[in-house]
Amino acid sequence: MRFDILTIFPEIFDSYIKESIIKRAQEKDLIEIHIHDIRSFSKDKHKKVDDIPFGGGAGMVMTAQPLHDAITAIKKLNKGPVIYLTPQGKTLTQTKVEKFAKLPGMIFLCGRYEGIDQRIRDTLIDQEISIGSYVLTGGELPALTILDAVSRLIPGVLGKENSHLEDSFSKAFNRKKEYPHYTRPANFKGMEVPEVLRSGDHKKIDKWRKSKLK
Ligand SMILES: C[S@@+](CC[C@H](N)C(=O)[O-])C[C@H]1O[C@@H](n2cnc3c(N)ncnc32)[C@H](O)[C@@H]1O
Repeated sequence: MRFDILTIFPEIFDSYIKESIIKRAQEKDLIEIHIHDIRSFSKDKHKKVDDIPFGGGAGMVMTAQPLHDAITAIKKLNKGPVIYLTPQGKTLTQTKVEKFAKLPGMIFLCGRYEGIDQRIRDTLIDQEISIGSYVLTGGELPALTILDAVSRLIPGVLGKENSHLEDSFSKAFNRKKEYPHYTRPANFKGMEVPEVLRSGDHKKIDKWRKSKLK
C-alpha cells in the first residue's frame, strides 16, 4: 500500500516511520510512505500557506492554492482516497481500518491552525476522519495513527501472520476488548498468574480467555 502524507511539518514523521514494524514493512516493500511538504507547493514568494479568515475571528486558515496543487499532483501518483484529518470527520474505528487496509493507497491531508479553506474540502477531499472527540494542534498524529493501524493489517507486516485477527475489536472477538495477558515469572510480588493459564489445557484456556473479553 502506498501512503502519501501532506503536511507543513514533514520532520514530525521521521522517527516514527524509521522504527520497528513500520520500518520493516517498508523494507519488505509491503508499504511505501511519501511525506510531502505543503509549503513547497506554495506560489507565494515567502512560501506562505495560511491567511486570515474571511469574517474575522481568531487563528489562521490554510490557503487553497498550495493544498490544491499538492493534492492534484499526489493524486496522479496514488489511486487511494484523499483523507482530510479533522475533529469534524467520522470517527476512526477498527472496522474502518479493516476497510482501509484493502485499498491500494491512501492520501492524508494534515491540517493546522483553524483548518483548511472550505473550498478544498468541498472539491478535493474524499473522506474526513477524526481520531476522537478532542482537538489536537495538527493532523500529523491522526495521520500516523491511521497509517499505523492500517499497516499492521496488511498481510506480512506483523511477524505472526494472523496475530491481528485476535486483537481488541477484531471480528474474532465480536468487536470486544481483549483478555488479560501474563508472562513470567508466575509469581510477581505475591501476585499469581491464574492457574488455568499454566494448566496446559488449551480448551480451558480458550474458555477462560473468552470469558474475559469485555
Ligand atoms: C487546531 S485543529 C483545528 C480545529 C478546528 N478549528 C475545529 O474546531 O474543528 C488543527 C488541525 O488538527 C487536526 N486535528 C485536530 N484534532 C483532530 C482530531 N481529533 N482528529 C483528526 N484531526 C484532528 C486537523 O487536521 C485540524 O485541521
